[in-house]
Amino acid sequence: MKRMHRKAVTQSESSEDEWMEHVYEAMELDFPNVFPEALESEQVDVTGASKTTKSDTKPVINSDGYSNYPTARETLKKVGVYLGGGGFGDVFKVEKDGRDIALKIAKTRDAWETIQREANIYEKINKEGGHKNIAGCIGICEAEGVKGLGLECVDGPKISFILDTAKQMYESGKITHAELWGSAQSFLKETLEALAFLEENNLVHGDVKGENIMFDRKSKSIKLIDLGSACVAEEEEARMGTITNASPEVMLSWSRSLTPKQSASPRQDTYAVGQMAYFFGEGDHNRFGAPDLKNEQATLFQLVMTFKSIAASKKRTDSESLGALNPVEDHASSPGAGQYGRGGGNTAYVKFVNAATNFDPNLRSSSAELLEMDFFKDPLLQEEDTVEVFEKLLQHLDEEMEDDQ
Ligand SMILES: Nc1ncnc2c1ncn2[C@@H]1O[C@H](COP(=O)(O)OP(=O)(O)O)[C@@H](O)[C@H]1O
Ligand SMILES: [Mg+2]
Repeated sequence: MKRMHRKAVTQSESSEDEWMEHVYEAMELDFPNVFPEALESEQVDVTGASKTTKSDTKPVINSDGYSNYPTARETLKKVGVYLGGGGFGDVFKVEKDGRDIALKIAKTRDAWETIQREANIYEKINKEGGHKNIAGCIGICEAEGVKGLGLECVDGPKISFILDTAKQMYESGKITHAELWGSAQSFLKETLEALAFLEENNLVHGDVKGENIMFDRKSKSIKLIDLGSACVAEEEEARMGTITNASPEVMLSWSRSLTPKQSASPRQDTYAVGQMAYFFGEGDHNRFGAPDLKNEQATLFQLVMTFKSIAASKKRTDSESLGALNPVEDHASSPGAGQYGRGGGNTAYVKFVNAATNFDPNLRSSSAELLEMDFFKDPLLQEEDTVEVFEKLLQHLDEEMEDDQ
């Protein structure tokens, strides 16, 4: 089988190269149904039966991908490490062919369908050589007799934890203002690089948030995970992802029960990145003035009502009067969440957040455009210094975890 070409490879990516080598090997041997090229090279005899491989000799606990989920889960619990999970099923660290993978398994038929969609999106990503800031994937596979989606196992905390830790450390004087913002800028930049790659390949992540971005201790960079809401841009209906980061146009199209719904667009992802930056800077989610009723359904209702009224008014395209961040009306008072003081509108942060979260998707910046903004061109910390800050943040997190135990 033809090996896929990887984009620019640097020395620091050597662990990723090893991982990709494994991807190629695995694709040739084990995952013909996910990767059609591998299917072509599979030897099929005249009776139509596939050549027997080693894995065929072991019974698969969940051969259709979801039945026998309790047994599959118990098996992985015994031999692997639980990494996380939710409504769809679980993710376990397990060994496959002598190395660790993260195996995502399904609880229900619907969840299995979502996992298969996810595998198809990863297949498109692999065809383009993958990206250093997106966890690798070996497709639908089987480990310890359990079928699931095989992913590069990212060893490290989620960005949401790291950013919370950074704030705590800043407040207690353990890191400087430049270190606080420099690390956030670095994470956001890498996230946007992954998203720009997805956009180049016509893909939308659909659920960008701090919980779906992990910090990989090995490569000291971020890895985007969870493509369960990912879509092919324009071809599929947009998925809502997580409410706090869902773009107004997607929320409105869902609330109006429009048919067809808003089609998936990479602008959903840039909006979500802007929402993350806003949350980091302001300590609250941007709701364009809608109140937080501390109840998800009630807040969702308020959000949709607010979005409807903005969409119906001329404010929609007037970025002077409608930004996530706006000037404080009374300059004597100190700015609250979503407000900036005199002259603050010119800061790189305000410009970036307002460009990323523009209410109108046609005026919202793309990931590539956002990466060109001063917020990233003129960061508070040089790249070589960010590694040192990451070390401090990770060490602090590790100490906290030890204290908890
Ligand atoms: N590649 C991976 N490496 C390490 N942990 C992972 C990986 N993928 C998922 N996880 C863990 O499993 C959790 C759930 O997986 P995810 O794909 O985000 O599904 P969900 O749709 O439930 O959010 C993640 O939050 C993370 O803790
Ligand atoms: Mg997730």
